[in-house]
Amino acid sequence: MASSPVFRFVLFIVFVALMQCCNFVEACLGGGSSPVGNAGHCAAAEGIVFSGVEAAVAEDPRMAASLLRLHFHDCFVNGCDASVLLDDTVDFVGEKTAGPNLNSLRGFEVIDAIKADVELACPDTVSCADILAVAARDAVALSGGPTWEVQMGRKDGLSANKQLANSNIPGPNSNVAGLISKFQNLGLSVKDMVALSGAHTIGHARCASFTSRLNVGSNAGNLVGDKDFLTSLQQLCSNPGASNVTLAQLDLVSPATFDNQYYMNLLSGEGLLASDQALVSEAGEARELVESYSEYPEAFFEDFVAAMVRMGSLSPAAGSGGEIRRDCRRVN
Ligand code: HEM
Repeated sequence: MASSPVFRFVLFIVFVALMQCCNFVEACLGGGSSPVGNAGHCAAAEGIVFSGVEAAVAEDPRMAASLLRLHFHDCFVNGCDASVLLDDTVDFVGEKTAGPNLNSLRGFEVIDAIKADVELACPDTVSCADILAVAARDAVALSGGPTWEVQMGRKDGLSANKQLANSNIPGPNSNVAGLISKFQNLGLSVKDMVALSGAHTIGHARCASFTSRLNVGSNAGNLVGDKDFLTSLQQLCSNPGASNVTLAQLDLVSPATFDNQYYMNLLSGEGLLASDQALVSEAGEARELVESYSEYPEAFFEDFVAAMVRMGSLSPAAGSGGEIRRDCRRVN
């Protein structure tokens, strides 16, 4: 009976009816993932973002890391409002030239292309900030990391804030107290900070971001480091004129896989940035978390997801206003 054509036809009819029913309920409720009712709901959007990220990563594997970082640099400056994507205007200087972003942030063209496709499917519906959040999630999943549901409904900001980008985004020479305070200023915990730092399991950094680690006698240079590792970095970065273009992998062992190897590297003195290595430089909660994540990858994934959801919920200051931008580079 189970394999008879009649039975399979009946099953098919039931399946189609169920799908219709789900679509109807979803349309009535405005979509399960949107906290703001119908606004921001576009059934095709997540699929379009996924395809865009997948194609971009197939062409340039580093793009997964770059898209993840874009979302972080967005959320740390007046909440997740896509302010990082705005070009300079006569009214304000954008965030792209802020210290942590200049010569460094990548992926703007990928987001532009995804946004254009989303606008074709659902005009004026999905914000650039939501696209950044979904792209970051998909970049992690495509790299072998966990996945999660992204809450939709963010609004795009009407302005950018270069000063805030300079002050809120932690620098690569931060010590552990400095890192903790930058995260706590935004309501994120030490655990969020250590788990989110695990994003450095993928991607690259320029010599300019970590040569302080090679200056013996400086605070960063005094951090515990594996000798061979530091010697190899010294050789890599021996041409100071190329410090903005020469790149090292943030995770030297599995540079394109989202895993817990980053934490193992810290324990063996092979963290690339001084701020990475600083997490284990003194006894305390940060070091304990690193030890735990190095041993239990599932705990890292679980805490990383929770921290991404919290970071992705950072809201712009009350009264800043917002819109659904048609072009992520400029306000409507
Ligand atoms: C904890 C404080 C953090 C500091 C000090 C920091 C600093 C940096 C620096 C200096 C770079 C290299 C940039 C360059 O040389 O061009 C970098 C790369 C990167 N960061 Fe962070 N970061 C931090 C946290 C985070 C967080 C929270 C995320 C995401 C959740 C993240 C994701 C990334 C990724 C994926 C890259 C590689 C980007 C690429 O290859 O294009 N970082 N970070």
